[in-house]
Amino acid sequence: MGFMDWFNSGMASNYDMAIDLGTANTLVAIAGEGIVINEPSVVAIEKSTHRVLAVGHEAKNMINHTPDAFSAEHPLHDGVIADYDVTEAMLSAFISRAGQRKYPWQPKPRIVVCIPCGATSVEKRAVFEATIQAGARQAYLIEEPMAAAMGADLPVTEPTGSMVVDIGGGTTEVAIISLGGIVTSSSLRLAGNRMDETIAMYLRDLLGIKIGERTAEVIKIKIGSILPFEDGRERDMIISGQDMMTEQPKEVTIQSEDVRAALQAPIDEMVLHIKETFKKTNPDLASDIIQNGILLTGGGGLLSGLDRYLTQQLEIPVWVSETALTNVVMGCLKVLETPTALKQTLMRTR
Ligand SMILES: Nc1ncnc2c1ncn2[C@@H]1O[C@H](COP(=O)(O)OP(=O)(O)OP(=O)(O)O)[C@@H](O)[C@H]1O
Ligand SMILES: [Mg+2]
Repeated sequence: MGFMDWFNSGMASNYDMAIDLGTANTLVAIAGEGIVINEPSVVAIEKSTHRVLAVGHEAKNMINHTPDAFSAEHPLHDGVIADYDVTEAMLSAFISRAGQRKYPWQPKPRIVVCIPCGATSVEKRAVFEATIQAGARQAYLIEEPMAAAMGADLPVTEPTGSMVVDIGGGTTEVAIISLGGIVTSSSLRLAGNRMDETIAMYLRDLLGIKIGERTAEVIKIKIGSILPFEDGRERDMIISGQDMMTEQPKEVTIQSEDVRAALQAPIDEMVLHIKETFKKTNPDLASDIIQNGILLTGGGGLLSGLDRYLTQQLEIPVWVSETALTNVVMGCLKVLETPTALKQTLMRTR
């Protein structure tokens, strides 16, 4: 180890970072400051040169509006890195935007970043390397549902069972946690993105109209639900798509009942998956969970009626977190601020 390495390794940086590297959104938080970046995981690239033109919101706005010379890419699929170089470029951009080193002798940040439970060792390694390449002095990996549970202030270190269902863009992660560790977990590659796809397919078959992924997502967030709305009124919204027959632009009114019908199959697949994971739990932890309830988190958890539907289907109380979109990054930040947690709960690969 050279002098600078030795010097750097022992020093806490005043901008150590937590990153939720998600399929849909990337969040960055800084110790002592909180969340500084919350943007879509999208990168706009110039095709001929592979140059990165924009990341985050700016790049997402280019989807479906990009001239042929550019492409807007999601570098993560199903919670894991699909395009390594583009992920690294996106991370670099966010990391440098999040914290500028004031002095050249200031150490690079230590970074805690989350990975899905189902990630293979190769996939974990890729996240680790990308984080180092993008500017971390040290990288620590934590499993996403553990971070979510910590961010939501569940009693993860206590000898009681806590259960988390995190529905993101790419994956649904289910975990049962006790005594600071994950006891049982599983990851299903079906979450918010799949809901958007099924809505688009359903409307194509029902109304003969083609819509893009962004429109499908807007429909889901605005009028999507899995149970009738609590006020008893259905919703509708006007969208524009492309007529399948004439290929001309066409405006249609979408009904919330139709969106609900489209969402039934993917949601029921999730329910089955959650039930199966719960069945693997030992009886003591199972009775804790029946008492404590299940934390529903991640953006997909915000779908209207999903908490009530899961409560009915699982026969266990399910409550949706008010901070569903930020629990993971806040949990990663907590790990950074708790040296014992940094040693214990993480896979630290370097
Ligand atoms: N109010 C809402 N109702 C329904 N879905 C929503 C709502 N808000 C956000 N979403 C969906 O949540 C998903 C994004 O959630 P989140 O940011 O937790 O995912 P992620 O962490 O990037 O993905 P992953 O954890 O799978 O890698 C998107 O599919 C988005 O459409
Ligand atoms: Mg996530």
